Amino acid sequence: MQKVENADVTGKRVLVRVDFNVPLKDGKVADDSRIRAALPTLELLHHNGAAKIILLTHLGEPKGVEESLRVAPVAQRLMELTQVPCELRENLRFDPREEQNDPVFARELAALGDVYVNEAFSDSHRAHASIVSLPKHLPSFIGLRFAEEIVGVTPALTPPKGALAIIGGAKFETKEPLLQKLILQYEKVLLGGALGNDLLKARGHPFGESLVAPTPMPPELSESDRLVAPADVVVRESGASAERTSAVNDIRAHERVVDIGPKTAEAWSKEIAAATFVIWNGPMGVYEQGYADGTDALARALAAAVCRAVVGGGDTEAALSKFEFDKQRIFVSYGGGAMLEFLTHGTLVGLEALEHSPIA
Ligand code: 3PG
Repeated sequence: MQKVENADVTGKRVLVRVDFNVPLKDGKVADDSRIRAALPTLELLHHNGAAKIILLTHLGEPKGVEESLRVAPVAQRLMELTQVPCELRENLRFDPREEQNDPVFARELAALGDVYVNEAFSDSHRAHASIVSLPKHLPSFIGLRFAEEIVGVTPALTPPKGALAIIGGAKFETKEPLLQKLILQYEKVLLGGALGNDLLKARGHPFGESLVAPTPMPPELSESDRLVAPADVVVRESGASAERTSAVNDIRAHERVVDIGPKTAEAWSKEIAAATFVIWNGPMGVYEQGYADGTDALARALAAAVCRAVVGGGDTEAALSKFEFDKQRIFVSYGGGAMLEFLTHGTLVGLEALEHSPIA
């Protein structure tokens, strides 16, 4: 794989695929960390004499052109953060051919530049035109932050004895292959969020109206003693204004699980303190609705621990950023789905596309 620092870009038009899929609030960028993460690559290209730097990104999941998902606020924030002259093109996903990985669309994008740089680790699990087809047409390079992500996440592929995995969020159906792999390599795999509900359901506990996956958890997972379900949970009844803490065998028919309970948070914090290595992806509760206590408790424990760790996913990262921690010890990945995919397969479609691109 060719690194951007070795690219001859003098006088050339450089197309950079970034992941500026950032949260917007009131028409402004609410979290600019993904923009900041790409700046060293943009500065390097500018310093090395690129004639033009053209940035490609998607933003959200538009169905056709959606005014609220135009990239103008992102371009505005970018201009505030750097003096490097760049042109940010409009949201790639306004054109359905991006997600369809349309070869003609990829050729149209390629015609805009002479060199391609992928600086979008967090989107490189998507077989979309700007990720996998565009590098077929141009000499292609891996961005500085993308390369750091690979170095940062790779230790999780070969964990030491006594390592701990914590997986939360929803969509068991997409995370099943990863869980199958983790139970072979990690001493314990703690499941929170909707994944925790899936495990409770598979183990015969009541789950009321909790979010569960359409695919049931197979016995080789649910019967594995390495997979750990919450012992208590916070539940909320539909229409009720208050929550209550419940043992997992006492969840009522109209209740849904919104977070891990305090006993579980305490026990899992101790697991973190004792672990030799931790990977963590996904929140323990319905984080976006404010059920953050369980996730925050684990983030506090991880920040205070001594082991090395790899953490990814927006909510997990947000929880950890509430605490002071050693950035040399805990690697925080910008990839949510991309990190999970890399852990599952040890590669990403976007990485493979770079490996097979024409030599500069
Ligand atoms: C992310 O935010 O994780 C990436 O930008 C991927 O976005 P997507 O899930 O909409 O493809």
